[in-house]
Amino acid sequence: MSAHPDDPVPVRRPTAEEVADRVLQAALGTTDLLAIYLGDRLGFYQSLATHGPTSAGDLAERTQTHPRYVREWLEQQAITGFVEVTGPEPTPQGERRFALSDAAREVFTDTQSLSYLAPLARTFAASMQQLPGILEAYRRGGGVSWSQLGPDARESQADLNRPWFTHALPAALAGVPSLDSTLRRPGARVADIGCGAGWSTLALAAAYPGATIHGYDVDAPSVALAQANLARASLPTADPAGAAGPTDPTTHPVAPAGDRVQFAVADAAGLPADTYDVVFAFECIHDLSEPVTVLSAARQSLRACGSVIVMDEAVAPTFAPPGDDVERLMYGYSLLVCLPDGMSRTPSEATGTVMRPETLRRYAQRAGLSRFEVLEDAGFGLWRFYRLFP
Ligand SMILES: C[S@@+](CC[C@H](N)C(=O)[O-])C[C@H]1O[C@@H](n2cnc3c(N)ncnc32)[C@H](O)[C@@H]1O
Repeated sequence: MSAHPDDPVPVRRPTAEEVADRVLQAALGTTDLLAIYLGDRLGFYQSLATHGPTSAGDLAERTQTHPRYVREWLEQQAITGFVEVTGPEPTPQGERRFALSDAAREVFTDTQSLSYLAPLARTFAASMQQLPGILEAYRRGGGVSWSQLGPDARESQADLNRPWFTHALPAALAGVPSLDSTLRRPGARVADIGCGAGWSTLALAAAYPGATIHGYDVDAPSVALAQANLARASLPTADPAGAAGPTDPTTHPVAPAGDRVQFAVADAAGLPADTYDVVFAFECIHDLSEPVTVLSAARQSLRACGSVIVMDEAVAPTFAPPGDDVERLMYGYSLLVCLPDGMSRTPSEATGTVMRPETLRRYAQRAGLSRFEVLEDAGFGLWRFYRLFP
């Protein structure tokens, strides 16, 4: 019997062998990720990048680690294809030598590269260390907070987003002319809520030399990182003739930025009223236990004609399995990091990482931000940008 054209397309269900193969591939990926964590946290990649071809003994000596473990790690990295075994000639001790390719050096050690992904491993290592608490939360409710997830999650978050904030955010904002012109205005006042280690705040300050920017985060160690990053930053001075727009720091005078950028340990629900032209929320609304309270405070903190800009994950508009790699990764974050964090406080909206546009629209409406725009992609990459107005 031939198929009718209106018949639904039959779904091909995978065989047991195919499912088993997926599980095996996942085990291989997990192995690689945890080996990357070791190489990142023990300084192996950095040492290989600095010193070139190296024996296990030398790498162990340089990183103050045990040579037997180091040899195993190097061999695993060579077997999986992240490091190369160099030259046929042995060292005087007869040890093999290992080196990073240029590509691997960039991915594992170049903190400014958009391909820098070594910190991704820290996120999953952070949640693995908290699995007993996560299991308990799945059984009884509650969660595991950002501060419990600790330095691995905090530093992973900061280091993963830093290259995009530094190198792509200014051009993306310049692609939204009405927002860009507000930020260029002399004396523009900007808040960056849930600012973490402050890389977004510093990128805004570099791009908009006429603006004053306040970064807020409830997590004191994050704010300490932000303050240290600010102390090391050289930012363009405010332009007395008026904001000239995104500025090339190589051609403009630079000065310590303490007067234009400030960080505070503070709950964004307590933002000062009638203060800011733009409130940014970079990749944090879905983590908040009470996003409506925070968005409401953001609305009240706006001056006339101000707006709230939310940057969050560019997940699919609706739940439509099977999902693409972005959906798969974001559900991974949600299971292990963002949902447990959001549910670690009560009351909680329990949003999770996969915050679809309709969810944010509902939060915004409840917060009195009734005009809701999804900004046209101006080079937003993996992000979706929203602009909310009272
Ligand atoms: C996923 S991190 C994002 C950090 C940074 N914006 C970025 O994109 O890298 C979420 C941040 O929101 C902060 N946060 C959570 N609840 C907050 C609140 N009520 N007020 C201010 N910050 C908050 C957390 O401490 C954390 O640093």
